[in-house]
Amino acid sequence: MLAAAVCAAVASAAVPVYLDDTRSLDERVDDALSRMTLEEKVAMLHAQSKFSSAGVPRLGIPEIWATDGPHGIRAEVLWDEWDQAGWTNDSCTAFPALTALAASWNPEMAHLYGVSIGEEARYRGKDILLGPGVNIYRTPLNGRNFEYMGEDPYLASVMVVPYVQGVQQNGVAACVKHYALNNHEINRHTTNVAVDDRTLYEIYLPAFKAAVQKGGAWSIMSSYNLFENTHVCHNRRLLDTILRDEWGFDGVVVSDWGGVHDTDEVIAAGMDMEFGSWTDGLSNGASNAYDNYYQARPYLERLRDGRASVDDLDRKVRRVLRLVFRTAMNRERPFGRFVSPEHSAAARTIGAEGIVLLRNEEGLLPLAEDKKVLVVGENAIKSMIVGGGSSSLKSKYEISPLEGLRARFGADNVSYARGYVGDTDGEYNGVTSGQNLADPRTAAELQAEAVDMAAKADYVVFIGGLNKAAGQDCEDSDRETLGLPYGQDELIEALAKANPRLVVVNISGNAVAMPWVKSVPAIVQAWHLGSESGNALADVLSGDVNPSGKLPFTFPARLADVGAHALGTYPGIKRADGDILDCSYDEGIFVGYRWADAKKTKPLFPFGHGLSYTTFAYGKATVEPGKDGNVAVVTVPVTNTGTRHGAEVVQLYISEKKPAVTRPVKELKGFSKVSIAPGETVNVSFPIDREALSYFDAEAHEWKATPGRFTAHIGASAGDLRAKADFDLK
Ligand code: BGC
Repeated sequence: MLAAAVCAAVASAAVPVYLDDTRSLDERVDDALSRMTLEEKVAMLHAQSKFSSAGVPRLGIPEIWATDGPHGIRAEVLWDEWDQAGWTNDSCTAFPALTALAASWNPEMAHLYGVSIGEEARYRGKDILLGPGVNIYRTPLNGRNFEYMGEDPYLASVMVVPYVQGVQQNGVAACVKHYALNNHEINRHTTNVAVDDRTLYEIYLPAFKAAVQKGGAWSIMSSYNLFENTHVCHNRRLLDTILRDEWGFDGVVVSDWGGVHDTDEVIAAGMDMEFGSWTDGLSNGASNAYDNYYQARPYLERLRDGRASVDDLDRKVRRVLRLVFRTAMNRERPFGRFVSPEHSAAARTIGAEGIVLLRNEEGLLPLAEDKKVLVVGENAIKSMIVGGGSSSLKSKYEISPLEGLRARFGADNVSYARGYVGDTDGEYNGVTSGQNLADPRTAAELQAEAVDMAAKADYVVFIGGLNKAAGQDCEDSDRETLGLPYGQDELIEALAKANPRLVVVNISGNAVAMPWVKSVPAIVQAWHLGSESGNALADVLSGDVNPSGKLPFTFPARLADVGAHALGTYPGIKRADGDILDCSYDEGIFVGYRWADAKKTKPLFPFGHGLSYTTFAYGKATVEPGKDGNVAVVTVPVTNTGTRHGAEVVQLYISEKKPAVTRPVKELKGFSKVSIAPGETVNVSFPIDREALSYFDAEAHEWKATPGRFTAHIGASAGDLRAKADFDLK
């Protein structure tokens, strides 16, 4: 007895509580906090380099290292600069862009993505992965849409959760960004968003809430813009009232790089870790530039003279310590792996599952074997991994579309014509693609060559779209128009005349205009697919993989069919007295297909659209009373009526018959991706709960489902509803 008691006493004396991982997180945090000096606490709340913050060396508490995110692990940069550190072992796997992931409509793909990128982050010694991004697709001009998960809050919510869980099972924190209302890029530091509460809660917040409450996200990034006249990094309503009080978030808020602007405001708000501030002397100061951060020396001064409270400080430090114990000091976390064959396979599978077959007249696709294929277009050869802003990567390899098609169909069968010259730059922050894409020929010469070769081919596969240059799919800039750049429309029309067996592959993270849509029999939406781009594309064009992706956003017929543009509220109105632009989201909850439905416009391709090489028939929907708190269960039989195995994303949209308040015509409230063999019928069931019927009552500040009659529409897209059934909420 005595011996045991002595042993226990010795053990507890030897291992401080904060180092004892048999103790609860809160006990460890309290203990660590009680041992720290004021200076040590403040040091944890701001950067010490471009991507790291200080630990407490005296106590053996390590530094925290963050990395971009969200499609791969960014190359190492210098301590104090965006320039490359010149490492030779930091070339990662580039995973498909998040639009591609969202287009898979498959939560298992999101989990595979999260686990894989989390492993890469872990292997590289990172504690926070700056991603995923879930800002809602409000305008097709937003240069950063490719990093997000589309226009629908339900789809983004379902897809973000497994990504976060997958990352964090590696002991790496996901940092969900950019919270909130950062829905376009130009003037991102000076745009003040005005949005009504109902729209905020119904459209712009749900994916963040799901990431926090269902995904258990350990960190979130506060965005650059302003909301209610306050920068989000200092915004008490978003950071304290909503995120912490309403949602119970217990993690860390990380500022976007340079998003903090004021010491008193940031101290008062629930922003924890300050990164990227452009303080005086950042690059050539006499003292350590990081001491000048808003939450550094200025904070210490206020603490010392009593202007700032230690309680507020401790609240922030507690959250950072919690993050440290969950990540850097988590002894259970696996070691990770980097550029493994499994990660390549994951990138290829996710990429192929996300590719969307938009149009396929007379079954032109898949491409038959042993035919002469002419590939035309810059995006068949251009690196799409370098560029686009902070998501730019240095990857171990990148299979271009041309390489992928040659590997699959044989180099002799696949010829190439450039067709047009777009962006020949291949450099971002010191990472170069190593390509020389210069071509001295005129546009007319390039087009003439392509058209001439097209006439002699069995198939023409045009691979174009956008790229990662500023003004296209790129951070810190938006597109100027919906149209394709570099004269691609004219070239596509000319190719269609030369050879009717034309396939257009649009590579982009955004909707584009397609004035030639009727002259092109087959159109494929391929996103930025990362290291395995070419292989994933070849998988789908060859039919090795039957396409099953669906659009995560509407392709509008014209810009004026998008709420923000119809109402002229993008990008906002500059105030006479300063730099701020007011951007009022006047379209309210009518974003994406909700706007198209309300205005009865016909999109070029609707939300949720995507074809397969097989066909699916939907039977009659039936309703049963719900169990376990559900209101109803709707079931529809779906049959594969073609000859190939295929997967269909069966979508559930809900409408309220006689709503007491204005409601969208219909809203996505369920989906299920089912794999069906030829001739087989699968019954797809959707339990419908009260949440699926609710709207946010801003005045009462609560979600409400009012008794009445509802319709469950089941379909293949927002524009292709195949079955419906009514039910009542009593
Ligand atoms: C971007 C963030 C990114 C950060 C660090 C910012 O400019 O908005 O998404 O994580 O830089 O690179």
